[in-house]
Amino acid sequence: MKKINLGVLVSGSGSNLQAIIDNIESGKLDAIIRVVISNVSGVRALERAKNHNIPAVVIDHENFSIREKFDREAVAILKSHSVDLVIMAGFMKILTPVFLRAFPGKIINIHPALLPSFQGLHVQQKAFDYGVKFSGCTVHFADEGVDTGPIIIQAVVPVYGDDTAGILQQRILKEEHRIYSQAIQFYAEGRLEIDGRKVHIKDSGIMETPRMYNPPLEKF
Ligand code: GRF
Repeated sequence: MKKINLGVLVSGSGSNLQAIIDNIESGKLDAIIRVVISNVSGVRALERAKNHNIPAVVIDHENFSIREKFDREAVAILKSHSVDLVIMAGFMKILTPVFLRAFPGKIINIHPALLPSFQGLHVQQKAFDYGVKFSGCTVHFADEGVDTGPIIIQAVVPVYGDDTAGILQQRILKEEHRIYSQAIQFYAEGRLEIDGRKVHIKDSGIMETPRMYNPPLEKF
């Protein structure tokens, strides 16, 4: 299987980056991370890249007051590393059309909620405060909007009565680490087809548990 060249954009902890690294090193994910780009210096994601000898670059967004300049710099670095697919992993900047045009249909993002519910920031807390019974996470293609691109894969997690927002965030994060690598593998295998708002996954399976209830039904 031909390995796909990844460029990973980070801003913080890098736990999604770490999960992708682990899945590559275990042989499950047919990819190579060619470069990690952070818009913030000194973050844990950069240490994770260093620990695995992955080239890492900081493009400090403070130095690039104009967003397009930041994007042009990032695009140049990604192109110079022959990146095929750009992975936003805990990346906290909104990409401009400069970036999107440079990698059409080749930028994906992970969002810790079931889009289109709870777009934007702090969404685990927002879902928790709203009182949802299910939340989850979404991998989607990036587009001009914020968290609005075509959806590739989602995972659903229940919210329990004794949860805190922090417990929910950790439960969602575990699923983020799984579905992100799955989405990248689908892409690497050439099985994703964007059709307007929809993404078709060629030869994908069917969910075993088509119905989920939280709390469980008792008599019905
Ligand atoms: C994750 O929940 C991700 O979905 C959000 O930021 C959190 C931290 O991501 N964008 P990471 O640990 O930096 O990958």
